[in-house]
Amino acid sequence: MSIRPLEARSPAPSTIDDARFAHPSEEEFARLLDFYGVRWQYEPRTFPLRQDDDGRVLEAFSPDFYLTDLDLYIELTTLKQGLVTEKHRKLRALRALYPDVQIKLLHKKDYLSLLSKYGIGAVNEQEQMAVREVLISASQIERRVGELGAEITRDYRGKELLLVGVLKGVTCFMADLMRHIALPVSIDFMTISSYEGDRSGAVRIEQDLTENIAGRDMLVVEDIVDTGMTLNHLLMQLQARQPASLRVCTLLDKRARRLVDLPVDYVGFQIPDEFVVGYGLDYRQRFRNLPFIATVRAEALARGPRESAAE
Ligand code: IMP
Ligand code: MG
Repeated sequence: MSIRPLEARSPAPSTIDDARFAHPSEEEFARLLDFYGVRWQYEPRTFPLRQDDDGRVLEAFSPDFYLTDLDLYIELTTLKQGLVTEKHRKLRALRALYPDVQIKLLHKKDYLSLLSKYGIGAVNEQEQMAVREVLISASQIERRVGELGAEITRDYRGKELLLVGVLKGVTCFMADLMRHIALPVSIDFMTISSYEGDRSGAVRIEQDLTENIAGRDMLVVEDIVDTGMTLNHLLMQLQARQPASLRVCTLLDKRARRLVDLPVDYVGFQIPDEFVVGYGLDYRQRFRNLPFIATVRAEALARGPRESAAE
């Protein structure tokens, strides 16, 4: 006899306000998922585990959460051994009947390690504490970078493209973006720094390109365009080397702070005028390894570990 899962109330609750949680730990987990921008549904399906000959369900299991982006069911558990044993039995039955369904039994102490395993959670507790708000989640970044890559691929069809990244903030973005560009691509990097005390935004090239850019189709890849002063100076210097074309792709755009009018051809996300870190962007060299874009608590900015670091 075939056995199929039942859809529960439709649609399943997917916000804290809509969900009627059976246990406080479930609400806590939902808040954590919201914090990291991980989409969830609460008890969206019931899986029959045993049926009688007339198809009546004798035993069923409704996992607590479904994480949409990860295609993963989560059953939360406490330390009460009797319950844990019973849940393990049900999970074994479920896996046997529905081999395509991914499900994990999760204890509270494992919440964060699960999220970081899936590239979502902050890597260590100290940085986790410093994060004020996740502005753009890992899965939002992933989706958008894919769209940008597809757009660039369409626009440069039939051409070879030179991607030039401005270090160091661009590392994550460059690595992901280039894998979504289906063209013959070369990459190169440069390091620049602003002249001390020069408010014109003039830049010094600390480490120059290794590629000759004359006659090439070139796309400058940036992590963030803020006032635009740095990029403006950089573009003037690059333009003088006579590339065939010169365009700009930035992951983030703080347009409210723009001081020079710049043509930015590809923009991942417009963001408000707030200092952000993660996915390559730093505050005094920290937070680059966060897999999302976040704002940081003022206290964490006030006492960075590298007070004298020069960027
Ligand atoms: P602009 O010349 O003002 O556009 O400066 C842009 C540069 O400042 C970027 O390449 C970043 O290195 C840095 N920057 C601007 N805003 C932020 C931020 O919110 N977080 C981290 N770095 C930033
Ligand atoms: Mg930069």
